[in-house]
Amino acid sequence: MKKLIILGALGLLAPLMSVGQSTFGPGTITTSLTQSGSPHNFADQSWNPAISVGGVYVQQGGQICQPCHTPHNAKTGAALLIPLWNHTATTGLGYNMYTKFGAASELQGVLAPNGLSLMCLSCHDGSVALGSFGGLTGATFIGAGYTWYSSGTAANAGALLSKDLRNDHPISISMNATSTSRPLSGFASSYTSPGVYTSTGKALSTWLDNATIPGQGLVQCTSCHGPHSNKVGYQLKQSNQGSAICITCHAK
Ligand code: HEC
Ligand code: HEC
Ligand code: HEC
Ligand code: HEC
Repeated sequence: MKKLIILGALGLLAPLMSVGQSTFGPGTITTSLTQSGSPHNFADQSWNPAISVGGVYVQQGGQICQPCHTPHNAKTGAALLIPLWNHTATTGLGYNMYTKFGAASELQGVLAPNGLSLMCLSCHDGSVALGSFGGLTGATFIGAGYTWYSSGTAANAGALLSKDLRNDHPISISMNATSTSRPLSGFASSYTSPGVYTSTGKALSTWLDNATIPGQGLVQCTSCHGPHSNKVGYQLKQSNQGSAICITCHAK
């Protein structure tokens, strides 16, 4: 009977949760990327195996950093923004960006993601195989058919952002935006350049990506997420309890 009630409650919750809420769990909370179960620790993933050709190892397998970094022969071009980047980058083409602004000018003419976001999207837009690093071409893509231990049995569709970013927080967009209808916080107005502004202990300016357009302070995936430890879940840079991350930038 108890079971029935619980199942009934879950049945009610499930459809609600599929609307406008994350479909993916916060992941295993780990302070170090080297802990197994950490969402970005791919050491025991089937797409990260040892590969040898003619008795010579071309990939050692089971490495933690290698899907993203390499000590030598790192990627060039846009990928240069990231230290020693090893993963094949997305073409950066064919995206639909967030457009639901109060005024078209708020889009700032951003037609495609740039900077650090491109590196995240190399796996998360689902266009490049996870195992495509170090010059090899993988076959497993994020999303459907992929089982990740940090999400348990839940559907993990949330990790597949796709190239349609209209339903995602704007990225590659400047903090110097002037939005009269939806004002940004005092942080935004006193923002000058990354690393300069500090307020109430939140050195948020270091979360902004200025590599593409120096001094512009672009909001990227890395403004809210870090690639390494998963201390607070969802790979977030700090806890978002009380929506702390959101109200650092938004005057609400
Ligand atoms: C080498 C591929 C790869 C790259 C590069 C990558 N990710 Fe991931 N990420 C994954 C995979 C795989 C998962 C787990 C997805 C699944 O279960 O299907 C994941 C999970 C996540 C999660 C969810 C964690 C959780 O368990 O709740 C977040 C958030 C995330 N990544 C953000 C990022 C950000 C931000 C970047 C860029 C700084 C990035 N990722 C770069 C492959 C990658
Ligand atoms: C899922 C992809 C991913 C994996 C796996 C990963 N990194 Fe990174 N790493 C990044 C990205 C993206 C950046 C740039 C992040 C930024 O500037 O916010 C970065 C930056 C760095 C930096 C320079 C900035 C810093 O945080 O110190 C170092 C050093 C680094 N990584 C080392 C490592 C090591 C060592 C490992 C393995 C134990 C590793 N990374 C695994 C994606 C990854
Ligand atoms: C403005 C802040 C912000 C930006 C920018 C941002 N995210 Fe997130 N992201 C979050 C928050 C907050 C969550 C956790 C949502 C929750 O608590 O349910 C999240 C969750 C996720 C998840 C888990 C998905 C799910 O359905 O649970 C992934 C994967 C992810 N982000 C990847 C990315 C990538 C890749 C980018 C860049 C293209 C990005 N994020 C940009 C704030 C952000
Ligand atoms: C690093 C700064 C930063 C953080 C953190 C941040 N935002 Fe934003 N956000 C922006 C910028 C910049 C824009 C685009 C400028 C604007 O609002 O017109 C924006 C736009 C938005 C919009 C669209 C506004 C419109 O006009 O359509 C919403 C909604 C939003 N953010 C919600 C959130 C939420 C929810 C969070 C927390 C998960 C968050 N933001 C965290 C900087 C940030």
